[in-house]
Amino acid sequence: MKKLMAANWKMHKTRAEARDTARDLVGLIADKLPQDREVLLIPAFTALVDVAQSLAGVPGFLTGAQNFYPETHGAFTGEISPAMLADAGATHVLTGHSERRHVLSESDTMVGRKTAFGLGAGLGVILCVGETIKERQASRVAEVLGRQLSAGLADVSEDLAQRLVVAYEPVWAIGTGVTAQTSDILQAHALVRAKLKELLPVGGASVRILYGGSVKPDNAGEIIGLDNVEGVLVGGASLAADSFSRIVLA
Ligand code: 13P
Repeated sequence: MKKLMAANWKMHKTRAEARDTARDLVGLIADKLPQDREVLLIPAFTALVDVAQSLAGVPGFLTGAQNFYPETHGAFTGEISPAMLADAGATHVLTGHSERRHVLSESDTMVGRKTAFGLGAGLGVILCVGETIKERQASRVAEVLGRQLSAGLADVSEDLAQRLVVAYEPVWAIGTGVTAQTSDILQAHALVRAKLKELLPVGGASVRILYGGSVKPDNAGEIIGLDNVEGVLVGGASLAADSFSRIVLA
């Protein structure tokens, strides 16, 4: 299984800034990228075409999008379809990101609809799950991850799951500088793996599970080596090429 090193640029970067960062990353990484790693850049919609063009033909580099609406077309002002993302050069897309769940009030049901629809449209979907600090303090981690995965994968067949990736991002570790302890990551990823095997008895063992939440150049190497960690999803430390290149090569 290749490790997936993903950069979620969130609501940052103009087109020119995104192009420059993509170009710098290719320069820093391309000839050193191990065979068993791939890099996924996830810019804002406006920079998708620029990033996809900057990465075209560079082995091991992929472009992804942050969001979409689960319909093919129609009267959905402000929304964008999976086919439009693919047309712009995206091969992957996020669903269930903590900021969409908690800032944009996306429900478990909506996350499930989007995950199945995105996979059905041929995209690789990275379904994000994770507990809040209150839920962790109330010992509800297993319950919350189980619920988010059950709802997120409600309509996902074994066939669709071949393109599925799951990201465990504890909400309290996102953008806080507080990385989860190694033991917390091992425990949560084992829970996610067990639930994936229950929901997808055939393919659940080979779905990649990424860790996200204050991943930095100095902790990425340890995290990426843990059991059931097949990649990272990086926010803040992915914005600068120098920092993200050190994570990718950690
Ligand atoms: P930070 O790396 O900034 O904590 O963000 C993590 C994240 O939300 C990636 O999707």
